[in-house]
Amino acid sequence: MSTLRQNRVLTLAAIALAAVFSLFGAAIAYIVYADEVNDARASAALAPTQGQQAKGTVTFEKKPAGVEVSVQLEGLTPGTHGFHVHEKGDCSAPDAASAGGHFNPTSQPHAARDAPARHDGDLGNLEADASGKVQVKLIDSKLKLDGPESILGKAVIVHEKADDYTTQPTGNAGGRVACGVVKAAAKGY
Ligand code: CU
Ligand code: ZN
Repeated sequence: MSTLRQNRVLTLAAIALAAVFSLFGAAIAYIVYADEVNDARASAALAPTQGQQAKGTVTFEKKPAGVEVSVQLEGLTPGTHGFHVHEKGDCSAPDAASAGGHFNPTSQPHAARDAPARHDGDLGNLEADASGKVQVKLIDSKLKLDGPESILGKAVIVHEKADDYTTQPTGNAGGRVACGVVKAAAKGY
């Protein structure tokens, strides 16, 4: 082999090696990034609105059949309470009015959770037991944790009364007793 040819082979080998290493680096960087922000899980820490005691956690996790919603609340009045995702992730107002209306990116009517057409945020009702607690899991096929209909950055609201599934556009569920913003789960969650 001539020296010229040897040099050329060495140069090509060096370029190929550099390419492999940069791809490897990019893959590592992606894995680290994907691990920092978990787009398959999110949660909202709900705090009571003014004069209320309701609080707890609602978590969302992507599953094959939809998004699993796990609800753990306390401090509610026993009975039925409307449960929605609202359009603004802002719980700052004393009555949580700052969270706006129901999250409805596809302009549907207000309805029950199992209705064919509903607000994305219509999660139906929760039943608080005699001690004011809710512990329930459900799978919802409409909720999304990514894309244009993502609920990340929106607010989860629990209401004082039952959602009647028919009154537009609120379900006539009364005041807002707890509010929390949906946040993507961090690494290690
Ligand atoms: Cu609501
Ligand atoms: Zn609604």
